[in-house]
Amino acid sequence: MELKSILEKLYNDESKHSRYQNIPQFVKEASNYSEEINENWRGDTARYDYIRRTVKFGDGESIADIGANTGFFTLSLAYDNRINQFIAYEPNPNHAAFISEIADQFQLTNVQTRNRSVGLQEINHIERVDRMIFFNVLHHAGVDFDQELVPSKAEFNDYIFQYISRLRNKTKQLMFQMGYNWGGDKTNPIVDSDQVREMTLYVSELFMDAGWKIKKIAYFSFRNKRGSYEDLHEDLVSGISRNIRDSSVSESLDKHIQELNMLGNSEFYKRPIFVVEA
Ligand SMILES: C[S@@+](CC[C@H](N)C(=O)[O-])C[C@H]1O[C@@H](n2cnc3c(N)ncnc32)[C@H](O)[C@@H]1O
Repeated sequence: MELKSILEKLYNDESKHSRYQNIPQFVKEASNYSEEINENWRGDTARYDYIRRTVKFGDGESIADIGANTGFFTLSLAYDNRINQFIAYEPNPNHAAFISEIADQFQLTNVQTRNRSVGLQEINHIERVDRMIFFNVLHHAGVDFDQELVPSKAEFNDYIFQYISRLRNKTKQLMFQMGYNWGGDKTNPIVDSDQVREMTLYVSELFMDAGWKIKKIAYFSFRNKRGSYEDLHEDLVSGISRNIRDSSVSESLDKHIQELNMLGNSEFYKRPIFVVEA
């Protein structure tokens, strides 16, 4: 079978998280294979652009992508950073095979695919890396995985605290994003979808309690035409770190979110991106 047909079949497997990510640009250009993803309400391009602007990989550094899906971030970064090692953790066998197929075809020897779940117990067994990307997985705990540890939303907070506490032993820097509907179910919000300030404070507090230092918080804005993630001013990030529940912090955050006009964003583009360090 030609590459295009193999990839098409693996990509369109009709699982819960299929047809989620874009096809990496280098694959589109070389193989005449693409998939139509409408990035107006959810997308990778702006996130990828943010990672590229924000993180400078040191020579030989290792990066893990937990919940790598079809590998848009792992593969795009690996293609451009051949002297770095990438590990993609992805439990869906078709998604994992999609990543491996592309890595093989394009001789990306710096990509390793691990077809497995990284639930709370498994964290202890993954290898330590320099940096991690951990986007939009954790709110599925209790629904997609670790059902016995999170039997209801009431256990979610404690679970996420334990999870990110353990993760601290596995990397020095984490890029993090999550959804705020438990298991992706709009009728079951962890934080209400319009409450961007509360999303920010909720995640920040958990990370600080778990011993992480918050370095950056970025919000998606259409201030430029294409839309991009913009960092919150470092004074306000420091304010959050110093006294998270101070009313001046809440007021400044609200003002910033209003200035970015974020409440017009889709649910996905309301989710902040956090960069935290152990
Ligand atoms: C909502 S998608 C997010 C994909 C990607 N990280 C992104 O933000 O573009 C969640 C991904 O996490 C994977 N996943 C689900 N449970 C997981 C687990 N226990 N460990 C690692 N990945 C998991 C799913 O198969 C899916 O590919």
